[in-house]
Amino acid sequence: MVNLNSKYQELIDQLKREIPAHPDLSIILGSGLGDFVNEIKLIKSIPTSSIKNYPPSTIKGHEGKIHFGEYSGKNILIFQGRIHFYEGYNISECVLPVFISHKLNSKKIILTNAAGGINPLFTPGDLMLIESVNGIAIKKELSDLIGIPTIDGKNNLINFPSPKLNEIIKKAALLEKIDLKEGVYWYVKGPSYETPSEIKMIKKFGGDAVGMSTVHESIFAAYLGLETASISCITNFAAGISGKKLNHEEVTETANKVKYKFERLVKKIISLI
Ligand code: HPA
Repeated sequence: MVNLNSKYQELIDQLKREIPAHPDLSIILGSGLGDFVNEIKLIKSIPTSSIKNYPPSTIKGHEGKIHFGEYSGKNILIFQGRIHFYEGYNISECVLPVFISHKLNSKKIILTNAAGGINPLFTPGDLMLIESVNGIAIKKELSDLIGIPTIDGKNNLINFPSPKLNEIIKKAALLEKIDLKEGVYWYVKGPSYETPSEIKMIKKFGGDAVGMSTVHESIFAAYLGLETASISCITNFAAGISGKKLNHEEVTETANKVKYKFERLVKKIISLI
C-alpha cells in the first residue's frame, strides 16, 4: 500500500502554511466547470506548478490551481484542474486533491465531472447526482491505495455517496428549480472515448453516464471519512447514442453552456451546508 503521508509530507506542509484556515467544503471542478471560482470571494489562489511534487495538469480546460475562498460564510477549497489516470499518473497522484482536502481538515467534498449520457432520458446540459458508481476498471489500483477488504468487511463499509450530502444537493436543486437527474456513473480508463458497442454493454449493466474520473477519488474520500458526493455534467450523448462523433470540444462547449445552472446549484448547496 502506498504511504501518501510520507510521499506528500513536504507538499502538505507547504499548503498548510499557505492556506489560512480549515475548509468547510472542498470541491473538485471537472472539465469546463473551472469558471465556478469566479463566483466566490477568493482569498488565496495557488498555481499547482508552484507546489512541490504536484503533478502538472496536461488537459485543456483544467487550469491547475488550488483556490481558497469564502461564500455564504463558509470556507471553500477548490481544485481547478484534476489529475487523471489516463494522463499516465498513478492512483496516488490521481487522488492527491482528496488527500490534500483531508489533510487540511475538510469534512466534506463534492466531486464534479463531465460525462457522456447513456440513459435515454438524459440530454447534454443535464446535471446528474451520482447515486452509485461502477469502478470495476479501477478496482485493482484502488485496492493498492486503500487495501484489500479484510474478512470483517472493514473496507467494504465505505459510506459513498453520503446520504446526508446527497439530500442537501437534492434540496438545493429543488430550491433552484433545477431538474437534477440521478444515476449510476460508470468509470472508464480512457483516454479514447468508448465505442458504441462498449456503451451498449455499459447501458445493459446499468450505467447512466460514463466518464474517466471521480470513482477512485470519491471512494478514497469516503474511505478517509469525508462526507462525499459527486455531480456529473452530461456534456454529450455517449458513443452510439446519437450517431454523432464525440470530441473534447463538444464536452467543453456544453460544460460552458451549463455553467450558470451548475454555479447556481453549487452556490445553493454551499449556503445549505
Ligand atoms: N465518455 C467518457 N468520458 C467522457 C465522456 C464520454 O462520452 N464525456 C465526457 N467525459
